Amino acid sequence: MTDDIAAGSPAPDSPSPTDGYVGDPAVRSEWDNRYADRHQLWSGRPNGALVAEVAGLTPGRVLDVGCGEGADAIWLARGGWDVTALDVSGVALERAARHARDAGVDVQWVHAALTDAVLPSASFDLVSAQYPALLRTPDAAAERALLAAVAPGGVLLLVHHAGMDTQHAHESGFDPADYVWPSMVADLLDDDWRVETNEQRPRVAPEGGAGAHHTDDLVLRVRRLR
Ligand SMILES: C[S@@+](CC[C@H](N)C(=O)[O-])C[C@H]1O[C@@H](n2cnc3c(N)ncnc32)[C@H](O)[C@@H]1O
Repeated sequence: MTDDIAAGSPAPDSPSPTDGYVGDPAVRSEWDNRYADRHQLWSGRPNGALVAEVAGLTPGRVLDVGCGEGADAIWLARGGWDVTALDVSGVALERAARHARDAGVDVQWVHAALTDAVLPSASFDLVSAQYPALLRTPDAAAERALLAAVAPGGVLLLVHHAGMDTQHAHESGFDPADYVWPSMVADLLDDDWRVETNEQRPRVAPEGGAGAHHTDDLVLRVRRLR
């Protein structure tokens, strides 16, 4: 494993740079700008729902979708997981890779949008997506990509801020109809899947960082049976 940042696919020998990004350049720019605005955007601590849900799982291969500055990925790697972490923002990934080096853990970073990344299908024991800002498309590409990455016997854990999905569109440009929410993934499940958790619950929020004001989570945890 390597902490190099691979473009589009997890390629251990890839030199690094973030310029081989695959995905919509506008989405990349939007997130790069958001990260570049601040020295550190998120708390630097792992998400509470992830910590709670991973407690009973045996470490294996994990994909962290929309990994941001890498706190979850690093926490998982410290816990013995073989981590691939993916994000559209090169700014975030550079920070994440630096934090991983400082922590002395190996993570395979992928600079790509979820739906454009070349990922091994059905091969992750855990796919974790914590507050991912995945854009919705008519073919449900992001929802399907999340499910397709899970190995038989593995788990998809999708966590979002409760209440945002039912908000009205803001003047700021945020429209919940543009994004993928847990219910949309749940709607796609067939007999190959078992729902282990699908609920709203109080959030164990890491201290500090943007988004700390959100008090409740939507947690969808589903297991692929075959
Ligand atoms: C709200 S942040 C959450 C970051 C991190 N999971 C956390 O909990 O701190 C959403 C992240 O999703 C990333 N993102 C947005 N669209 C994406 C896409 N299509 N594929 C992968 N990552 C994406 C953004 O760059 C950002 O880092």
